[in-house]
Amino acid sequence: MNTGAVAHGATLITGVGELVTNDPSLGAGPLGLVPDAALVVQGGAVAWVGPAVAAPAADERVDVGSRAVLPGFVDSHAHLVFGGERSAEFEARMSGVPYDGGGIASTVRATREADEDQLRARLRGLVAEMRAQGTTTVEIKSGYGLTVADEERALRLAREVTDETTFLGAHVVPAEYAGRVDEYVALVTGPMLAACAPHARWIDVFCEPASPHAFDGAASRAVLTAGRDAGLGLRVHGNQLGPGPGVQLAVELGAASVDHCTHLTGADVAALASGITVATLLPGVEFSTRQPYPDARRLLDAGVTVALATDCNPGTCFSSSMALCVALAVREMAMTPAEAVLAATAGGAAALRRDDVGHLGVGARADLAVLDAPSYRYLAYRPGVPLAGTLDVT
Ligand code: NIG
Ligand code: FE
Repeated sequence: MNTGAVAHGATLITGVGELVTNDPSLGAGPLGLVPDAALVVQGGAVAWVGPAVAAPAADERVDVGSRAVLPGFVDSHAHLVFGGERSAEFEARMSGVPYDGGGIASTVRATREADEDQLRARLRGLVAEMRAQGTTTVEIKSGYGLTVADEERALRLAREVTDETTFLGAHVVPAEYAGRVDEYVALVTGPMLAACAPHARWIDVFCEPASPHAFDGAASRAVLTAGRDAGLGLRVHGNQLGPGPGVQLAVELGAASVDHCTHLTGADVAALASGITVATLLPGVEFSTRQPYPDARRLLDAGVTVALATDCNPGTCFSSSMALCVALAVREMAMTPAEAVLAATAGGAAALRRDDVGHLGVGARADLAVLDAPSYRYLAYRPGVPLAGTLDVT
């Protein structure tokens, strides 16, 4: 995400009632909390951090009035390039119609019909909405084009607003390939990948044998290995609608993240605990599909690195709010407020294999979220209240 700000000289940010650094060497607990803190930003990076009483002088000074400051949220899973909307599908779901991925086809139709300016306006509007709520890094997937030209277009647009772009040609099998999954996988792993790889950092697949529209383990493996051979990092949508091979495939292939993780076996948890793959939980999806929430406690207790992300998309969760994810994780998934904040910041950074975001140690990007509240706890304590914003330091 472009911060829109270039720092010349140093700026001292003071009046920080509570600073979340996510660096235990800088403060208390896993969040590295520093009360009554200050930080110095120079050239877009954190140059100094510590207690306000020890702060050095700087050219510029910004007082945040005893508010809490934390690393900007890292939303490591979003689908923001699309046309149309699916509020009627949401309403039907709230009356008991289950989600099976079939509605994706209507977004594919609307996305293909939309022109580039319409898609760009929607995309930029959603990124601005995220930023206004404290999100400073966002991953954006294709996956509603499903032709070579439409997938390439989606990734080109996404690249205008983030470096974290993900090729999701294997989202569902599009209508024109119904009954010809193998031919569609050949398209995705051949010409579509060739056109999209230059615009993408990652490849993703909806590995979900429980959906008649998504991909089984063998097809998912073919997509991921082709992406890896083209130089892309790996991500997986797995185990959303039922148990399946997604989690273990992601771990076996060393994917950066496997996302959803709603239906996990003991073997899935053991695999995640022994591997390097982050488990990204998307509680806004369970909220918006009336599914049971993933068992975050079981993952955390097993030592798995957990991230929280919105999955912002017109089908399963049309929310751009990381604060909502934090509140749901605390209320519905037995995460502590500190675990949830860590997962929404450092967890997201781990899921994107980034060490320059998700913390506020010296050298980190000066991506700052500021809360209109004295503590990070308020994100869960005052759900639904727009407390989080970003702080642009110029
Ligand atoms: O992450 N599960 C697959 N893909 C998206 C939903 C896409 C849609 O329904 O439009 C998800 O939930
Ligand atoms: Fe998704």
